[in-house]
Amino acid sequence: MAAFPGAALRAGARGSSLRGKYTPMSKPVTVTHSVDGDGIGWIVFDDPASRANVFNPATQADLRAAIEALAAQPVRAVVVLSGKEKIFIAGADLKWLGHVATPAAGAQASREGQALFGLLDNFKVPVVCAIHGACAGGGFELALACHWRLASEAKETVIGLPEVGIGLIPGWGGCARLPRLLGAKAAVEHILKAQLLPAAEARQVGLVDELVPAAELKARAKAAALQLAASGKPARAVGAPADAAFFAEQRKTALARMRGQPAPLAVLDAVQQGADLPLAAALDLEAALFGEISSGEVAHNLVHVFFLKDAVKKLTVDAWFPRPATPVVPVPFQKIGVIGAGVMGSGIAQWCAARGYRVVMRDVQPEFVERGMTVIKGLFDEAAKRGKMSAAAAADGVARVQGTTDLAALADCDLVIEAIVENVAAKQALFAELSQVVRPDCVLASNTSALPIEELAATATHPSRTIGVHFFNPVSRMPLIEMVLSPHTTRETAERVLAFAKHLGKSPVICRSSPGFLVTRVLFFYLNAACELWEQGVPTDVIDRAMRDWGWPMGPMRLIDEVGVDVTDFIYGEMKHYFPARFASTSVCGKMLAAGLKGRKNGASTGFYTYAGGKEQLNPAMAAYAPATAKTMDAAAIAAHLNGVMIAETQRVLDEGVLKSADDADFALLMGTGFPAFRGGLMRYARVQAKRG
Ligand code: NAI
Repeated sequence: MAAFPGAALRAGARGSSLRGKYTPMSKPVTVTHSVDGDGIGWIVFDDPASRANVFNPATQADLRAAIEALAAQPVRAVVVLSGKEKIFIAGADLKWLGHVATPAAGAQASREGQALFGLLDNFKVPVVCAIHGACAGGGFELALACHWRLASEAKETVIGLPEVGIGLIPGWGGCARLPRLLGAKAAVEHILKAQLLPAAEARQVGLVDELVPAAELKARAKAAALQLAASGKPARAVGAPADAAFFAEQRKTALARMRGQPAPLAVLDAVQQGADLPLAAALDLEAALFGEISSGEVAHNLVHVFFLKDAVKKLTVDAWFPRPATPVVPVPFQKIGVIGAGVMGSGIAQWCAARGYRVVMRDVQPEFVERGMTVIKGLFDEAAKRGKMSAAAAADGVARVQGTTDLAALADCDLVIEAIVENVAAKQALFAELSQVVRPDCVLASNTSALPIEELAATATHPSRTIGVHFFNPVSRMPLIEMVLSPHTTRETAERVLAFAKHLGKSPVICRSSPGFLVTRVLFFYLNAACELWEQGVPTDVIDRAMRDWGWPMGPMRLIDEVGVDVTDFIYGEMKHYFPARFASTSVCGKMLAAGLKGRKNGASTGFYTYAGGKEQLNPAMAAYAPATAKTMDAAAIAAHLNGVMIAETQRVLDEGVLKSADDADFALLMGTGFPAFRGGLMRYARVQAKRG
């Protein structure tokens, strides 16, 4: 069941079935039925109150009513389809899935869905499912209960079981029916990947039986229904079971890759044990496992994270500025200037061009411009190679970027983002120069990762148009943008930049200008605290393993290698400057830098680790900087200490009003640092810990 990200939230506005609290208001019918002149029954999902169809108590009741009505009529076969343009059925309403209180309540919800789909499976005549648009989670579990599945070739048709991605397992028959259809191995692989497949791939894997042009879907579904009416229900496939070695290997991988998450292991139990059982018993097992998983902390956390992500769509600047008497639609930017063609500048220019903006990218030397243009071309080529865009679109994207050394070329830009060296004097000089070149209404933004905007932009004319737009590295993969408001930034400037960030497809978080904003500040307090432990004698691998085992994708010492020892040391300097009383001085990064150990970026010379031949090993050279005696500290204590440093600093950021809410902080740290999503967010985790005492 559940979860095509995004859609379920939009449509699932009607409350919980679990405690029987759902009371329909003026109830629009979400599922209708009819019988045509050839005796084919039609069941159509089309919630008039939403752009999506999702399963909630109303939909379930409407589907049951439609099935029962058709059961009472002389139909020869039935077709199930959606009336929506882009969605078949997006899954179950996630609102209540984040709050399943007990295993018994979860199991009951699972059994209710299974029973409903069982009516289709056991219907008196064959049932055909005609899929157009997203068919996810419970939507696909409905399709699995039907006797024949067609999918439209349209690009919006995507199909699959993504539940594991939000900490759940398919609980409306998916774990029991998919192995019977595909065989245990393919079913496990599909469910654990938690991805929706494009229609052609879904056909290839065997999720659907037929692929048809979208315009012919209805007619072809009817033809299939008439044929099955004549021939009878096709025999159910009996997929091959997998051997114990396959499951053992999958368990090992799940434990290593998705550490701390119970859903993948529950899927493996459901499929392995369910294979030897009759369908009804396999469904019972699935319901019991769904009950355990859906009422667990990890599922609640991941569903919470889903809602945090979804909330970005509705983000406004209202929390930061008085509302105007008459709302003004922000004037969109057309042409973007990027200053600095280095790591960040070229990444930002490429991303803007990929989203259709015309871009002028300026650096001081032609060879720097050239280097940036090569990076941009490489990023477009890679996007084309990975099928993200056509080769022609990639070429158009490259053509939208003009490289130059001439600042005057930015004269007609609507927004200029500077990404030059992290140096106050250099940035101030640039803002003064820029102010002479661009129009007074051109928004001037800095990509600084830590410097207060009002300090940098002190030299700009019309400071009301200055703002921070902090992208993360690499721009093409990191969704977060910290939108940083200086005391001078106006509502109009903020609204224009917010609309821009959304148009870029990024996830903005709004904060008040303050050193390090949120992410840089909290992250580097954390990394510095790890260096402090290291300098006390706790070994690199012990620190890193402790944090990985807690759920981080990599430990802090490894992360320093990734960020760059030079960048880390530089930001430590900034943090020390702005927080002299609280930012403890560590010296290991400075010593490494003096010895040329910059981390992973300079290949041969290394950092806390060496990476020769792509193999990560502890760097023996680090012994020169470590204390003579190693310090013993257990993993739980390390994680508690380092997480505690992050929690304390985030709390200070919140107390200072840099962000508006703990949820904003959680979202930014999830998107910007790799904080493990299954923990639900740093401050949510802190609240739960505090409650437990
Ligand atoms: P970089 O050193 O790769 O690139 C800076 C570029 O700016 C160089 O090509 C340099 O020639 C050019 N430049 C210097 N002065 C200039 C001027 N007056 N006009 C035009 N070009 C000029 O630096 P990087 O890493 O791209 O960082 C740029 C900014 O982005 C910094 O403020 C940094 O703090 C911030 N940032 C960096 C991140 C990273 O991971 N590298 C992440 C997020 C922000």
